[in-house]
This record gives sequence, C-alpha cells and structure tokens, in this order.
Amino acid sequence: MNLVIKNIGWLVQYHENPIVTISGSDMKTIPLLQDAWLFCKGGNFQSWGPMSKFNAELKVLDPAGTAKIIDAAGGMVLPSWCDSHTHIVFAAPREQEFVDRIHGLTYEEIASKGGGILNSAARLAETPEEQLYEDAAARIREMIAFGTGAIEIKSGYGLSFDAELKMLRVIKKLKSSFQLPIKATFLGAHALPLAYKQNRASYIQLLTDEMLPAIAEEGLADYCDVFCDRGFFTPAETETILEAGWKYGLQPKIHANELDFSGGIQVGVKHRALSVDHLEFTGEEEIALLKDSGTMPTLLPSTAFFLRLHYAPARKMIDAGLPIALATDFNPGSSPSGNMPFVIALSCIYMGMDPSEAINAATINSAYAMGVEKTNGTITAGRKASFFITKPVASISSIPYNFGSNLIDRVFLNGQEI
Ligand code: NIG
Ligand code: FE
Repeated sequence: MNLVIKNIGWLVQYHENPIVTISGSDMKTIPLLQDAWLFCKGGNFQSWGPMSKFNAELKVLDPAGTAKIIDAAGGMVLPSWCDSHTHIVFAAPREQEFVDRIHGLTYEEIASKGGGILNSAARLAETPEEQLYEDAAARIREMIAFGTGAIEIKSGYGLSFDAELKMLRVIKKLKSSFQLPIKATFLGAHALPLAYKQNRASYIQLLTDEMLPAIAEEGLADYCDVFCDRGFFTPAETETILEAGWKYGLQPKIHANELDFSGGIQVGVKHRALSVDHLEFTGEEEIALLKDSGTMPTLLPSTAFFLRLHYAPARKMIDAGLPIALATDFNPGSSPSGNMPFVIALSCIYMGMDPSEAINAATINSAYAMGVEKTNGTITAGRKASFFITKPVASISSIPYNFGSNLIDRVFLNGQEI
C-alpha cells in the first residue's frame, strides 16, 4: 500500500544518495527540509518534497488516489533509531544490586561476589523459553514506542551450552515475529561461570569447540561478542574466541574498555570487528587505531549514567575524525532502559555531542554497527519506510532538550503504522 505523510514540520535525515557511515566534522550536518511531504511505496521510502508542491506531485505519484494520507500536523519525521547493542533477553530485573550500588558497592564488587551477570545467568537457567520470549517481546514493543526500528540482541546470560542456545533460540523467534530487523550476537564470553574459576581455559574451549559449532549449525547468531575488560576476559582469551567465531562467519562486535584500558579496542580492530562498544577508557592510541578501521566505535552513555562511570570521550573521538554510534545497552544490570531519545540526551548533555551528531550516531552509524546500513538509518528511496512522527517541535534539538518527555507521536515500520 502507498502511504503519504503530509504537513511535516521538519523532514530529517533524507539522503538522495545512499550513505552508510558519517564521521568527524561531517557528523554535524544533517539534512532538514521544512514543511515537507514524504511518499512511501510497498513498505519503502520513495520520494519527498516541499508542501508547496504537494498537490501537483501527489497527482503524479498516486494517480488513482488510493494512497493512505497521514497528516503529521507539523511534527518532525525521522528515520527510526537503530539500537545496535542490547541484552533484552533476560529473566529478571536486578533492583537489589541497584540499591547496593546506591549504598556504595561498585559494579565490579557485586560481580566478583557472584552477583551481576552471574546472578542473571542463574535466573535465566530456571526460566522457560516461552517466558523469556514474552518478556523480551514486551521490551521490544516499548522500544518501538520510543522510535526504535532495528535492534541487535546478545546472548550472554546463559553461560552454559543449553542456556546460551536457549537465549539464541528466543532471539530467533523474536526475529520472525517482529516487523523490524533483529540481529543476534553470541556473547558466551560475558562472564566466567564460577565453576570454571580455576580453569578458565576449559570454559573458553566450551565456547569455541562446543557452543560455536552448534550455534552455527542452527544458524542462531550473526555476530560474536566478548566482554574484554578488567575482571572479565583478557585480550588473549578474546582473540581465541574471535578467531573461532570468524571460522563460522561470525564477525566480532565486542564489549571493550568499559572498566579500564583493557586492550579490547586493539583486539577488536585487529580482528575486523564491526563495532567496539562502551569505550569509556579510550586514549590517543585507541583513537589512532580506530581511524579508518571500518570498526564502528559505539558509545553507551546510559550505562555510564546508571553506573556513574565517567563518559566515553566522544568529543575527542569526533574531533579526531572518527564516526560514533550510539546504543542503549538495554540490560538488567547496567542500563535497564531501551530509551534511545534518552541516550541521545545523555550524549549531548554529558559527552558534548551536538544534537545533529547524536542523531547521526543513532541512525546512520548505529545502522552500520549492526549491519543494516543498506536498509535502515536514513530516509532514502528503496530503504525501509521505518520512521516516526514527533509532536510539533521547534527543531531537532527538542529531542535531547525535552529529555523527560516522550515526543514520539506515531511510529511506522515498513510503511505500516504500529
Ligand atoms: O554491556 N559490560 C558487560 N555487559 C553488560 C552488562 C551486563 C549486566 O550487568 O548484566 C553491559 O554493560
Ligand atoms: Fe552490553
């Protein structure tokens, strides 16, 4: 069915020519068309233009007059956010740890006592697949209402053969039940199970020799992740796992440099990771390595916010010419939120990103960071008509400025209103 949106206050992020990443000083530019219309055909974007020519153009585009016409009433239209880093398959919230942190414990102290990721793994092991599916589906519905139109989801709360595969099967089922692209990432190396404390190598072997072949056999993952950080997995262990993942065609997308200068960025770039994510600890050396590497630096400021870490040096990175992607990291321990507009607000307020840089990071670059850059991330003819209409607002800066309000009025995926 054809779909027309008219009376758009600002049409944002439209590109005649396909664009797949945006870096450095270019991140400050974002196409904006005031008083616009947008035409979608067969679930894809087709064309757009100024309202002054709307009636004449519509006669040509829709001669039979059958298109569904929606009045944006002065709201902005943006392509849906791409959330390239989440852990939304989990069994239970971790509110007690949140309270423990308020009272002074650190994230690492909680983890070393068997809390944190291991706590989530214990709960997940006893939760049926159907329940995990229902809970994750509810999270996706909430994320869609925040304007998200593509989601990457990691395993990593299984940490055993059966439970990791159970998580990945839940993700596979989510893929087939939602209108939006979902990518699955195998994160068996999220934390070391306590039983392997004295024998790290045998857990790595379980990942590489048993889990990965079974996952590949069932086609359960698109990417391979490792939490390469202080207290979790070392760069050498990470290399072993990433090499094994590549053997099954799984490109790395890794957790790096959240808790320290872990060497994770170096390992990620060396192994041609699609993205390296977190990066609170990023210095000159890491920035130089990331330059022109093809690996997307992905920042997760709601994690820094929730754990009261210092934020990643986004300003330095962009000023050095790097691209940046933004994602929510939605998970029960360090970022229990799938709210992309809030992530954008944090990136502006705490990391000094301009609103146009933040929107580029949450659309074009985050589409690249999850491998959907050919279909999502911009309003471009032939790409998926996944977008949202905001309430009438003054400018794109309204999104981070109104950080506590939901400005998103109507949401469309593949040309259909949700
Ligand atoms: O991205 N850093 C590692 N993993 C998650 C946290 C997972 C958890 O605490 O449950 C993250 O922040
Ligand atoms: Fe994460």
